[in-house]
Amino acid sequence: MGVMRIGHASLKVMDIDAAVDHYETVIGMKTTHRGKDGSAFLKCWDEWDKYSVVLTPSDRAGLNHIAYKVERDSDLDVLEKRIRDWGLGVEPVPADGLQFCGRSLKMTLPSGHQMYLYAQKELVGKDVGTTNPDPWPDDIRGAGAHWLDHCLLMAEVNPAKGVNRVAETTKFLMETMDFHLSEQIMGGLGNSVQLASWLFRTTTPHDIAFAPAPVAGLHHIAFFLDDWSSVKHAADVMAKKKVRIDVAPTRHGITRGETTYFFDPSGNRNETFAGLGYLAQPDMPVITWTEEELGRGIFYHTGQLNEAFLKVYT
Ligand SMILES: [Fe+2]
Repeated sequence: MGVMRIGHASLKVMDIDAAVDHYETVIGMKTTHRGKDGSAFLKCWDEWDKYSVVLTPSDRAGLNHIAYKVERDSDLDVLEKRIRDWGLGVEPVPADGLQFCGRSLKMTLPSGHQMYLYAQKELVGKDVGTTNPDPWPDDIRGAGAHWLDHCLLMAEVNPAKGVNRVAETTKFLMETMDFHLSEQIMGGLGNSVQLASWLFRTTTPHDIAFAPAPVAGLHHIAFFLDDWSSVKHAADVMAKKKVRIDVAPTRHGITRGETTYFFDPSGNRNETFAGLGYLAQPDMPVITWTEEELGRGIFYHTGQLNEAFLKVYT
């Protein structure tokens, strides 16, 4: 029971047509619905629900909300009580409050991000169907991403003020929604401060992650690819389409993932991410990276963070 996976991310974009073109031709998603307000709903070919990304026209970039799908409708009742008992406000939202979804729960995480939980979303099906399916569809485009995999959110950490929203939100997700901690970065005096966390509900190393920042924001949303050659192919697509690449293909120490970071036309950071990393299980001992090895944890080969990596986000 409980949370299964990330369901969707709703992003603000400044040029909706440029954004739709990016998510369709670079990421390889398809638009499944356009709203009267210009908003766009998109899915990857290997996803079965109606959308995993929502783009809404705005005068700035950034995150509207993230949404996670739970297994059963009755899980929402259990989770609502747990969240209330934990001391966080939670608002029941009727069906279609989240478009094409059943009833949902809405809350503001301790990190400041808006999160929804829902159990049902309109079923569209994978592009390859379910009867004797081919391994991939013929009309694959761009990176041909399989699915929206995870997000990394920036949360306020200010030890001088006694504020650590990374640790607080990590604790909240573990205690109310049974997220498991796979990896963390510890720093400060005697490496006693949790500066970043990677949490999972699936069997991959992360479905959501948190990193420290002066103010809350979105660091990136990540799309899953098969393997290293798919990561390279996706970067080729980006170069051909003059996409602004933040970090060229490399490997993470944390999660062991193979990665490229880049920006959508509004400046929201995307990642194409490959590899299982390792089999994440609830009883796996937590992996800890110390602040001194932060660079290698993020970019394993160079061990160097680029200047913009932790400073630029939406
Ligand atoms: Fe990521």
